[in-house]
Amino acid sequence: MEKIIVKGVKKLDGEVNISCAKNSVLPIIAATILCPQDITITNTPILEDVEVICTLLSQLNCNVNFSKVNNDLTINTSNLNPVDASTDLIRKMRASFLIMGPMLSRFGYCKLSLPGGCNIGSRPIDLHLKGFKALGADVNIGHGFVEVKANKLTGNRIYLDFPSVGATENILTASVLANGTTIIENAAEEPEIEDLAKFLNSMGANIEGAGRGKITIHGVKELKGIKYTPIYDRIEAGTFMIAAAITNSIIKINGINEEHLRPVIEKLKECGLKFEKVGNQSIIVDGREKKKAVDIKTLPYPGFPTDMQSQIMSLLCLTNGISIITETIFENRFMHVTELVRMGANIKIDGRTAIIEGVSKLTGAKVKATDLRAGAAMILAGLAAEGETEISDIYHIDRGYVNIEEKFRNLGAEIYRINV
Ligand code: EPZ
Repeated sequence: MEKIIVKGVKKLDGEVNISCAKNSVLPIIAATILCPQDITITNTPILEDVEVICTLLSQLNCNVNFSKVNNDLTINTSNLNPVDASTDLIRKMRASFLIMGPMLSRFGYCKLSLPGGCNIGSRPIDLHLKGFKALGADVNIGHGFVEVKANKLTGNRIYLDFPSVGATENILTASVLANGTTIIENAAEEPEIEDLAKFLNSMGANIEGAGRGKITIHGVKELKGIKYTPIYDRIEAGTFMIAAAITNSIIKINGINEEHLRPVIEKLKECGLKFEKVGNQSIIVDGREKKKAVDIKTLPYPGFPTDMQSQIMSLLCLTNGISIITETIFENRFMHVTELVRMGANIKIDGRTAIIEGVSKLTGAKVKATDLRAGAAMILAGLAAEGETEISDIYHIDRGYVNIEEKFRNLGAEIYRINV
């Protein structure tokens, strides 16, 4: 079993290059099903989750080729065989469920294993299915599967009770080839939604308003193959901003879109960090100032992202005063709290609220990565803790961070992977 060892206390220095966004690449790869021509995604992050969805497409008889030149991923789905997708892969990564919208749109049929919940919550799909039904699909659930069928999808108006990222993406891809116009109200506004719409429009789709709460999709007859580079990973960039803060260091981050990180940057400024833009894709983060306690409520974009909640909690453990974090997106996203307490943090949980009282130091300990972002939070805490921190269950981390130890080592961290 692999583990990551981090030795603190360490200062960081230098610069880090951010990879393309996992949560952009996954829906874009799923959307290649809409067009039976070569589509190349450049700068593809080599991640466990990307490998899973590519394996799934290969199992559906698609051509998937990866070239180390520019990390080009070329996909051709012309020979796609719309049979039951491999249940274990769908169970392994719920984002594979994002192939349902494109499959329904192109073939009028899709049957997938119900995506499991995960550590952070039950992860329902009711809003996805509400959208498919509104577009005219028959939806049947039974024996652990969900099956959707439609002769031809017809545009409709859909209101999302919650601005679900995945539901917005699945309804978006299901409606680009539908007859007529679809309007998604209370749609998710995350930058990854805007990126997916930009990708689809580059292929010939007709989508307006993505990235805002109301998206209008005028159905088109067909799409054409293209080459596309997804946006940078704002959560990876935010993670490295916290790294500068928790080690009281200055680092330069290359590959950021400041607008996408507005909620994170504003909160970190409140906490005492200083930022200096360099060009239009880099930023210098100065985390040397004494940190101040802050209160955080995770919200759909443009609110503070839930995917940054565990990472900033690591920082607030060492910040003078009492900070309060309220997690409004997922019902069980505080599992990292017990791990941080093992390192000497002083945190109490009351339902969806965590009360963090800053301590003078953390000490290295054996801890677990309890989800993808919590794993990153353990690395951050380990950088600032006295002694050695051993992190297990690091498969979570490999799902969403490219070469994370190497990126931290290049910044001066003492971090390495062991096989035990
Ligand atoms: C996406 O998950 C991201 N994953 C998550 O990132 C991210 O945390 C989440 O959006 C929120 O920003 C990918 O993009 C692959 P949601 P998704 O549907 O689409 C409820 C990471 O660490 N809901 O917006 O599954 C649900 O219960 C991962 O990279 C319904 O009620 O998120 C949850 O409370 C973790 N019914 C809330 O919406 C539905 O049909 C947010 O879910 C769908 C969702």
